[in-house]
Amino acid sequence: MNRELIEKHLSPDFGVDIGEILLFEEIDSTNAESLRLIRSGKRGNWVVLAQSQSAGRGRSGRHWYSHKGAGIYLSLVRQFTMKANALQSLSLVTAISLHSALITLGVKNLQLKWPNDVLHEKRKLAGILLELQNTSSALYIVFGIGINLALPAQARHEIDRPVTDLNSLTENQLHAEEIVAVLLNKLLSNVAVFESRGFSSFQDEWNRLDCYVGHDIVIQNSSERIIGKSLGVDQSGAQLIQTAGGRQAVIGGEIIPSLREYSEGSAT
Ligand code: BTN
Repeated sequence: MNRELIEKHLSPDFGVDIGEILLFEEIDSTNAESLRLIRSGKRGNWVVLAQSQSAGRGRSGRHWYSHKGAGIYLSLVRQFTMKANALQSLSLVTAISLHSALITLGVKNLQLKWPNDVLHEKRKLAGILLELQNTSSALYIVFGIGINLALPAQARHEIDRPVTDLNSLTENQLHAEEIVAVLLNKLLSNVAVFESRGFSSFQDEWNRLDCYVGHDIVIQNSSERIIGKSLGVDQSGAQLIQTAGGRQAVIGGEIIPSLREYSEGSAT
């Protein structure tokens, strides 16, 4: 990964400075490193990128496959002055930004799955893990993003969910540096819109791109499983679901498309 190439493609007008781009050959997790840096007193906004991760973190404590050459492993650290609860829907904004960046780069037929997966024909192409760290002066969000670039056959066996990668989806020769820069441009400008207007400006776009709207879904959160028909998201980014007992707005958890898939468990 070449820092100058990333900087060359970065837009100068997305409102905040990316103070630094930190590149690692290998690290445990770009999110873990970002959190360590915040806790050790580093301030401002920055990006951590690694060629491989020895302990890549996925949602719900899962492992994220992070071998060298198989994907892009990135964390953006961004300071906020908003309250933590206003930030719930930021992970949906991140998925919309990633979707938009990949479409700009020529990848076609991508969809979203609540709260923050980017899919191609229901196969997972990218995942997002937002982590939060409070300091005495500000709130920091670590936007952790993993994009599958070229998954080896062995990885497809290891990951017990349907997955895909950019190599299978486009004939364009995409450079990781360009992907990173286009993604950061979209993400930073959408985050600025979110800061001033909230999630409501993204609601329609989410519902247009969400492949489960109108379909039967299962939502698993820490305490329960909710079954019903997806009605898309509301103005705050909550998943609306029509259940046998009525309509509910769910703010935590993730969609499992079917009970069968739910019972199979997952590795990424
Ligand atoms: C998911 O489970 O879908 C979220 C996966 C997030 C993976 C990325 S890779 C870069 C960053 N560092 C991590 O340890 N995880 C995130």
